[in-house]
Amino acid sequence: MNRISIAIDGPAAAGKSTVAKIVANKLNYIYVDTGAMYRGLTFQALQKGIDLQEEVQLLELLKKTEILLKPSENGQRVLVNGRDVSSEIRGSEVTNHVSIVARHRMIREEMVRRQKNLAAEGGVVMDGRDIGTHVIPTAEVKIFLLASVEERAQRRHAENIEKGYPSDLETLKEEIAARDKLDSEREVAPLKKADDAVVIDTTSKSIDEVVESIMTLAMERIG
Ligand code: CDP
Ligand code: CDP
Repeated sequence: MNRISIAIDGPAAAGKSTVAKIVANKLNYIYVDTGAMYRGLTFQALQKGIDLQEEVQLLELLKKTEILLKPSENGQRVLVNGRDVSSEIRGSEVTNHVSIVARHRMIREEMVRRQKNLAAEGGVVMDGRDIGTHVIPTAEVKIFLLASVEERAQRRHAENIEKGYPSDLETLKEEIAARDKLDSEREVAPLKKADDAVVIDTTSKSIDEVVESIMTLAMERIG
């Protein structure tokens, strides 16, 4: 059977990783969370006290940083130079700094190089901001997920409450809107729908409905 590539892009908390993981499982494909790679580098830079505006220093750090995405029972573990940082990279410190790191051209070039290698054989579901436009422009299926900022903040809020983390809906809304703005307005590979991507507004859709739509498109291409 034809092993295709599926690119899923969209703003923060639109549901990309949730549906990408399910689709990858159903097809027995690998899932690559590219946001976790930018988060892993941001974590490492914060740990080392590197100025996040310093592109060359960040690139030097990235060259010394192995970021591994390992499938696990509850999704995916992220290992940075062998250390499991899966929880740390979701915290607010990394979340509120990652878009500053992701703005730099040299950082993006190195990340995209690594991501293209991961996608080279096909049989991949990759999510991020520039997958359909830059990382896998030849992907057979390209999806652009959307949801209102209120809905997305509400989803993150519900996740925090479920995990027992402190959470404030208004702050989340502001943080998500600020990150969307940085990601959409940056010069290099901004968050943008690829011309040939299918838009799915998930605001009032269930996870199953979104998965179903993507699976239908995928099966058409797999044949
Ligand atoms: O899960 P969430 O949507 O909140 O974020 P993420 O996918 O983990 O991505 C974190 C950040 O990494 C984004 O806000 C972008 O600044 C950056 N990113 C990027 O620039 N390009 C990608 N392909 C993926 C993430
Ligand atoms: O990867 P991204 O930041 O785009 O989103 P996520 O980490 O998958 O988070 C989305 C959250 O919204 C999860 O808690 C999902 O359970 C929930 N959700 C969804 O993903 N899709 C829907 N249609 C409805 C809810």
